[in-house]
Amino acid sequence: MDLKTLPVTLRPMTAAQPDLESALNLSQAVGWAYRLEDWRIAQTLGQGVLAEENGAVIGSALCWPYGDGFATCGSIIVSPAMQGRGLGRVLLTRLLELTGRRAVMLNSTTEGMRLYQSFGFEAQGTVQQHLAPALNVAPDAADPQVRAARAEDLQAILQMDRRAFGADRQRMIAEFFQTGSVMVVAGDAGPQAYAICRPFGLGQVIGPVVAGGAADAKALIRYFLRSRAGQVRRIDIGGDSGLGAWLTELGLTEVDQVTTMMRGKRPAIPGPERLFALASQSFG
Ligand SMILES: CC(C)(COP(=O)(O)OP(=O)(O)OC[C@H]1O[C@@H](n2cnc3c(N)ncnc32)[C@H](O)[C@@H]1OP(=O)(O)O)[C@@H](O)C(=O)NCCC(=O)NCCS
Repeated sequence: MDLKTLPVTLRPMTAAQPDLESALNLSQAVGWAYRLEDWRIAQTLGQGVLAEENGAVIGSALCWPYGDGFATCGSIIVSPAMQGRGLGRVLLTRLLELTGRRAVMLNSTTEGMRLYQSFGFEAQGTVQQHLAPALNVAPDAADPQVRAARAEDLQAILQMDRRAFGADRQRMIAEFFQTGSVMVVAGDAGPQAYAICRPFGLGQVIGPVVAGGAADAKALIRYFLRSRAGQVRRIDIGGDSGLGAWLTELGLTEVDQVTTMMRGKRPAIPGPERLFALASQSFG
């Protein structure tokens, strides 16, 4: 099915309040805990498409290009009553026009996998979502010291992130410097690990967490679990992060799993830093 046989129009999603509210209605209809502000940030950092039928928004899809070689996609939603008519296929086709020649990564729900596979996306790994209602965690005496990031740490943070992610997320990190709390582990030659905690969904999300080793990553996560006591905390980790059992032991239960899928070849990740927790399932 395509737009000729479907009585639907596609148009760019804007930052205007009615677009954000329509998107919020969609995410609520499929049970996602996004806030209006989460949609605002997602739209600001990327490019989005809305599908309309008779003036009502019935679908959304966004992408976030990171330079010329790589992009992530997400927030692909078709209103429950409109599913199964080929609209998911139409939205993804438009997204892939927007991402062009870039390699594309997304984190797929079970429902989305067949759609993405038919466009050449291949499963590459998993992401586990861990959640804790309200939890306080004692510091560990062995933890390296963490401190608040300063404006002059930004360049070092961007470089660490690029080495761990393989592409430049400057706009996203600059946004989170405004809306979140950024902490670093200080090394001899400047920051050697960083993490961000920011409002998202039901509470606070911890991520990205970028470090050269698990000890630094854990110290940063533990800091945010202490400093945000009383609030819901969420963290999304890659299946290969090695942190799952540790988080569960701390009281952050695994509540969901999605499949990371790639279309094309992701840019090389030089390291030595690794991405221990995602910025979000959308942003990677
Ligand atoms: C995933 C989603 C966007 C698909 O939209 P849609 O308009 O129903 O999809 P289409 O009608 O274009 O169908 C595309 C393919 O997906 C398959 N599909 C659709 N819904 C499905 C479901 N619930 N479970 C399994 N496969 C499904 C269709 O059978 C079709 O495959 P086929 O061509 O091989 O038959 C929609 O189900 C949705 O919004 N789900 C809730 C939110 C979500 O999980 N989004 C994905 C985030 S990564």
